[in-house]
Amino acid sequence: HTVAIVGCPFSGGQPRPGVDKGPIHLVNAGLVDQLKSLGWAVEFAGHHLFEDISVQGDPPVGIVKRPRLVSGVTSAVSQIIGGHAAQGRLPLTIGGDHSLALGTILGTFGKYPNACLIWIDAHADINTATTTDSGNLHGMPVSLLLGLPGNESIEDTYFSWLTQPGVGITNGEHNKPTKRPVLTPAQLVYIGLRDVDAGERAILRQNGIKAFSMHEVDKFGIGKVMEMALDHVNPNRDLPIHLSFDVDALDPSVAPSTGTPVRGGLTFREGHYICEAIHETGLLVGLDIMEVNPSLEDEGSVQQTVKVGCSLARAALGETLL
Ligand code: ARG
Ligand code: MN
Ligand code: MN
Ligand code: MN
Repeated sequence: HTVAIVGCPFSGGQPRPGVDKGPIHLVNAGLVDQLKSLGWAVEFAGHHLFEDISVQGDPPVGIVKRPRLVSGVTSAVSQIIGGHAAQGRLPLTIGGDHSLALGTILGTFGKYPNACLIWIDAHADINTATTTDSGNLHGMPVSLLLGLPGNESIEDTYFSWLTQPGVGITNGEHNKPTKRPVLTPAQLVYIGLRDVDAGERAILRQNGIKAFSMHEVDKFGIGKVMEMALDHVNPNRDLPIHLSFDVDALDPSVAPSTGTPVRGGLTFREGHYICEAIHETGLLVGLDIMEVNPSLEDEGSVQQTVKVGCSLARAALGETLL
């Protein structure tokens, strides 16, 4: 088995510099050798600098910032991830901000259209161009992947590569040409949420999207939550799984160096348990470790966060405690 580490030093989906240094720190901390010692063949050909993607002037569309840059980089990421998936390698993307998931998830789902997406985050990242208050695309990838209404101002212009033309049923009109989104709401489950914007709550409710917030983690425990989450998106435990892990899902005492920390998060063990439980299914086909920002907080916090990023990846790739 080969894991392909895809380093994505990219910060254009949010305003804080430094998150682009995340992948460099994870690799320098020894991630490649750590995964090798778990028995994986590891392919790592250096970080993707996206030097060929130059946008001259990238004015906001409404308040959505840097749509051209984010589009250019994430569509390139989707090609890279799609290539690894097609070759039977497991892509491990290290970010970089969470807008990168636009590319990683399209890449994985291109090869495994029936896969499910397990999104671990303090945030739902499901704002649309209409609901976003910040205009930051790292808070929006899920809505674009689902093809939700509200993204008209950016979708056809910059993110048309995300949706494939298809024939479907819209408003009762049969055989009307439609866009087929990457993902349907039933293929998605969230764990760890605790900072969900009002517009996002409405979207989750209206689309019947399953989410286990920190309230449910407290109530049921992480073991039961993982079982319920898998029962929802993968009832027979036979579908491929893409795990997208935003380190801000962890409590800031565990992963302090991240751009949008929110108190009341997952413990170290809860975060690792999620990864271990997914490894145990044997169904993992795509993994993202996102939003490590080594320019935030003191040196000790940075080292701690980088180490946690590496150990989450190891847990998802088979490291056990015994
Ligand atoms: N909901 C907020 C927004 O849309 C925060 C998003 C944070 N996202 C993240 N990937 N850290 O701006
Ligand atoms: Mn987040
Ligand atoms: Mn908020
Ligand atoms: Mn996120």
